[in-house]
Amino acid sequence: MTGVWITFEGGDGSGKTTQAALLEQWLREQGRTVVRTREPGGTEVGVLIRDIVLHHRGDIAPRAEALLYAADRAHHVATLVRPALERGDVVIQDRYLDSSVAYQGAGRVLDAGEVRNLSLWATDGALPDVTVLLDLDPAAARARLDADDKPFDRLEAEKAEFHERVRAAFLELAASEPERFLVLDASRPVEELAAAVRERVGGALR
Ligand code: TYD
Repeated sequence: MTGVWITFEGGDGSGKTTQAALLEQWLREQGRTVVRTREPGGTEVGVLIRDIVLHHRGDIAPRAEALLYAADRAHHVATLVRPALERGDVVIQDRYLDSSVAYQGAGRVLDAGEVRNLSLWATDGALPDVTVLLDLDPAAARARLDADDKPFDRLEAEKAEFHERVRAAFLELAASEPERFLVLDASRPVEELAAAVRERVGGALR
């Protein structure tokens, strides 16, 4: 038996965590074993890497940053995601390599194709069965983040123009792999989005 791997992508404040939690609840009600995880930081090593990439004060050289995300990913896929899929579990994951392409590529220093290939090398080519892209205008996302009183991390604090490039990059990725991606307008009501996600994921369960 092989499991099903679902990733959620989108800008900061697009509602990934809410949708991932609703999907998890539904799958558990269906009797599935669910592993809920995220990048960066899905493993013990990953938590340490997450702290560097998100909370280090001051610049990290772009290639170093891309390698840190890729290192987190390599360890996460090898020690958590693959074993779960081999057991037949459903893995629900916040962010994967599309985030690297969109965010590290949006810095304009690194080539998006190279960033993607780096992650594919890191994970020995692992790609999810379904990737849900929650697409949202960065201004609307900003308003949601401002409503929370969590402190901003390094990337959330980037300029509006950067977040526009991230959004465009995600949409481009989705257009180039329509089979893997489900693109949803994240300004729709939470329950409607959850129903659309369930429909797509239901079709991928085996
Ligand atoms: P996330 O965990 O979604 O943040 P939060 O816990 O605040 O909801 O993501 C953290 C940040 O990491 C996000 O701004 C995007 C960034 N990121 C990258 O730049 N590249 C990557 O490869 C990944 C996985 C995340």
